[in-house]
Amino acid sequence: MKTFISHKKLNNELRNSEGSLGLVATMGSLHRGHISLIEKATANNTNVIVSIFINPTQFDENQDLRNYPKNLQNDLQLLQNFPNILVYIPEISDLYPKKIKAKNYDFGKLDKIMEGEFRPGHFNGVSTIVEKLFTIFYPDFAYFGEKDFQQVIIIKALVEQQELSTKIISCPTIRENDGLAMSSRNQLLKEGYRKNAAIIHNSLLEAKQLMKSMNPPQLEKTVAAKFFNAEGVDLEYFKVLTNDSLAERKKFNKAEAYRAFIACRIGEVRLIDNIILT
Ligand code: PAF
Repeated sequence: MKTFISHKKLNNELRNSEGSLGLVATMGSLHRGHISLIEKATANNTNVIVSIFINPTQFDENQDLRNYPKNLQNDLQLLQNFPNILVYIPEISDLYPKKIKAKNYDFGKLDKIMEGEFRPGHFNGVSTIVEKLFTIFYPDFAYFGEKDFQQVIIIKALVEQQELSTKIISCPTIRENDGLAMSSRNQLLKEGYRKNAAIIHNSLLEAKQLMKSMNPPQLEKTVAAKFFNAEGVDLEYFKVLTNDSLAERKKFNKAEAYRAFIACRIGEVRLIDNIILT
C-alpha cells in the first residue's frame, strides 16, 4: 500500500501501468461497508485507488462537518490488508486549488427530494468532488454503497450528463447484527441511543410486509406513524419511490420495482437507510 497527498504524484505512479483502474471514494472512518467495496474493487481491477477526503462542500451544516468522525490512523491500519492499493489522502488545496466551492448541477427532481430537500446543496457538493476525482484519475470503475442509494442514482446521472467514462458499480449495504446499516456516523451514537437505532431497519422490513396490502401513500403514512412515540428518534422522511427514477406513485404496479427510504435523527445523529421492496 502506498499513500499520496498529491493527485499528480499518484497519477505519476500509475503512468506506465496497464489494466483497469478502480476507485473507492470515501470520507474515511472506514468500516466493513467500505471494506466490502475495496474487496470488490481489488478483485476486479489491476489497480485500485482508495481516496480518503472529508469533502467540505457536501456539508450543509458547519457543525456536521466539524463533528464528522476522523480516524486516519485506524483507517490506514485497516488498509494494510490491501498491499497493492494506492491511498489518496489529499489536503483541501489538492482538490480545491482556487475556491472551496461546489458547482451547480441540474438533476431535475432527483436532487430536490429526500437528502436534497433536507440537506440543501448536498448533492452539488457530492457531484463536484466525484466529478473532480473522476477527471483527475479517470477510473474505469467506481464503487459506491447502496446505503446512499439516492447518491448512487445521482452519480450515475452525473456520469451521463458530463459524459464521463467511469462505470458506476453499486454494492449492497452491509449491516450490523441488528440490521443497522454500517455508516461512519454510527460511532457518533451515544450509548443508550444505539439500541434505538434498530427501528430504522425494522421499519424498512415492515414496509416490505405492508406493501402486500397497501398503496405507497398509505404505506408511507402507516410506517411514519410508528415513529410518533419512538423514544429518542425523530423521523425526517419515510418515502416509497420507484427504484430507478425515484418517482412517486399512487399505486404499486407489477411492472416496476420500488424502494423505501428513511432518514431520521437518533439523538443528535442523522442516519439514512433504504431497502428494495420488490
Ligand atoms: O459517500 C461518501 O462517503 C461521500 O459522499 C463521497 C462519495 C466519498 C463523496 O465525498
